[in-house]
Amino acid sequence: MEDVMIKLSNGYEFCFMASSGALGFDGFGWPHPKYWILRFLLKKYPNLIVPVVKTLTLPAQKGNFRAIYDGDDYVVNAVELGNPGFEAWYEKYFPKIEKRGQKIILSITGSSVTGIEKLAYLIAKLPKHIIKGIEFNCSCSNVMKIWMLNDIVEAVSVLNKITELPIGIKIAHHQKNYLEIAKATFQTVEWISFNSVPWEMIFPGKESPLMEKYDVSGAVSGKAIKDVNKKMAFEIRKAGIKTPIVASSVGWEEVFEIAYLDVSFSFRWADAVSFGTLFRKHPYWPLKIAKKYNNSGD
Ligand SMILES: Cc1cc2nc3c(=O)[nH]c(=O)nc-3n(C[C@H](O)[C@H](O)[C@H](O)COP(=O)(O)O)c2cc1C
Repeated sequence: MEDVMIKLSNGYEFCFMASSGALGFDGFGWPHPKYWILRFLLKKYPNLIVPVVKTLTLPAQKGNFRAIYDGDDYVVNAVELGNPGFEAWYEKYFPKIEKRGQKIILSITGSSVTGIEKLAYLIAKLPKHIIKGIEFNCSCSNVMKIWMLNDIVEAVSVLNKITELPIGIKIAHHQKNYLEIAKATFQTVEWISFNSVPWEMIFPGKESPLMEKYDVSGAVSGKAIKDVNKKMAFEIRKAGIKTPIVASSVGWEEVFEIAYLDVSFSFRWADAVSFGTLFRKHPYWPLKIAKKYNNSGD
């Protein structure tokens, strides 16, 4: 059977990714009792799923870690880019990751190409047996910064040159030019992943459950955005862009479809699968899925 897998230029391969934010800043799940079984499993199988750590910026950003609402088939959040800043992250979280022998992907963003360049110099110093790639988050649905196409291309080029690590790009449906971004980065990024989608685009005319308390609508993730993200994936493929795609917003059935059925068709819409909201709803399902696939996907 043909594998569902992304093979990066540094030789690292992955089928499953924990999307940025799903497993915290150290790829080990948030420190909450509901993640205990998951943490136990992650100790046993640290590299079944490659975690993308929650997005880091050069300076610390406050964010709002409480601004999350769990709907039936979705989560809406306005956590924004809350993070301790790259250097504080390195002091606090990196030693834990190193000790566990976990391989990770960093997620980064900034307010300018110069900011990305500064981050790139810091990342270049980190050991390459742990950092397997960088995901450039140019699409955070909860912040006002809109990355222009030229700046995205330049930032990716700077990251490539300075870090020599594989670079991925995270796009989102509300970026009207996502197809252009995918086209323009075809030769320079090694995967495309998908971000959450602003509330208004998924539930037009309906008030967000975050509005009253936080005065923002937030961004939706989970099954409710699956079709929107799948549509983007199809458009990318239809445009002849061959960058590997990481499917997001999937549940058990979709993973089954991707991992066991779609692979037999000549047109496959995803090359790997990321889990985000699924970790929040059913914290250890993604590991169960990855374990099952690993044992049978040969
Ligand atoms: C609470 C929360 C925090 C998130 N934080 C980030 C983040 O820091 N950076 C990022 O690129 N995506 C972030 N995301 C988006 C996810 O990584 C993912 O792209 C999105 O949830 C869609 O995938 P899913 O439907 O499988 O969850 C976050 C999502 C949630 C629900």
